[in-house]
Amino acid sequence: MARRYDLPSGMLEPARNLLPLPGTKEGLFQLAQLAVPGPEDWPDGKRPAVLMTNPTYHVYKGAAVMTGGEPIYVPATAHNNFLPDFESVGPDVLARTALVYLCNPSNPQGTVADQEYLAQLVTLARRYDFIVAFDECYAEIYRDEPPTGALETCARLGGSLDNVTFFHSLSKRSSGAGLRSGFVVGAPDLIDAFAMLRSTGGAVVPLPILAASAALWRDDAHAAETRAHYRTLFDMAERILGNRTGFYKPPAGFFLWLDVGDGEAAARALWRDYAVKTVPGAFFAYPDPTTGENPGKPYIRVALVHDTDDAEEGLTRIARYLTR
Ligand SMILES: Cc1ncc(COP(=O)(O)O)c(C=O)c1O
Repeated sequence: MARRYDLPSGMLEPARNLLPLPGTKEGLFQLAQLAVPGPEDWPDGKRPAVLMTNPTYHVYKGAAVMTGGEPIYVPATAHNNFLPDFESVGPDVLARTALVYLCNPSNPQGTVADQEYLAQLVTLARRYDFIVAFDECYAEIYRDEPPTGALETCARLGGSLDNVTFFHSLSKRSSGAGLRSGFVVGAPDLIDAFAMLRSTGGAVVPLPILAASAALWRDDAHAAETRAHYRTLFDMAERILGNRTGFYKPPAGFFLWLDVGDGEAAARALWRDYAVKTVPGAFFAYPDPTTGENPGKPYIRVALVHDTDDAEEGLTRIARYLTR
């Protein structure tokens, strides 16, 4: 973290501020067990709220539901540059908010939040006393500039880690999803509670995995190579699909979030007629409770994770389908 981000020396102490996880999915899910109070501690007897972006990562919703929290989806659409305005839920909801999940850089849109945005969210969390889970597993998958992280925000705000947690993973950075290795960073009391929870209801990360993980985290060269490969694929996508309305090259992540009008119809046709597997954007999002609209509906998510030849073939077929 100290190498990747601009942090004052000594801001993090490994033994007090960091806990290894068997991948971050499980940790993101379990954090809700620490953050969302049980019914006896509900604020004014009201169900705690768990805020998340919409579209979202399904694990955030699962975590909210399984702890009795109310998942609240905050739109992240092209209109707000895919950056949700959490304050827009209003003071009543914020007063009963226990946890906010923000994936930055985001999945699926590849948006990067800047320092001003992150500082507003950290400040909001401290004002209303909720925890923010900064899911930064795509932090190392970027095109040009390394995205800033919320740890830098906390450093700028004085160094406190109150109300914040950060999740980092080897799954994307080192293409090591099968290794199951990540970690959470937070304030010592939260990390203590997390360690207690995990030692009660989880498995510790085995020593050989920790040794392999340490070696991967120490090495930046392979992460740079991986990044260069994604850059090549995004340049290729721009060459093949760049003249389509709705195409944009995200600053981070390895997904194309492509507006095709009707994502589900497109995903079905691409699979049936072109043997290309994409995911309908609506599957990552939930209908807006007031309008009933699913913000993911017009999109497909295209994972650019193949070798160059397969990616070129897949993108060419998508282009053929779109001009059909
Ligand atoms: C947004 C997001 N967060 C977290 C994860 C979890 O990654 P892992 O458990 O492999 O660290 C993923 C994996 O797909 C993801 O897309």
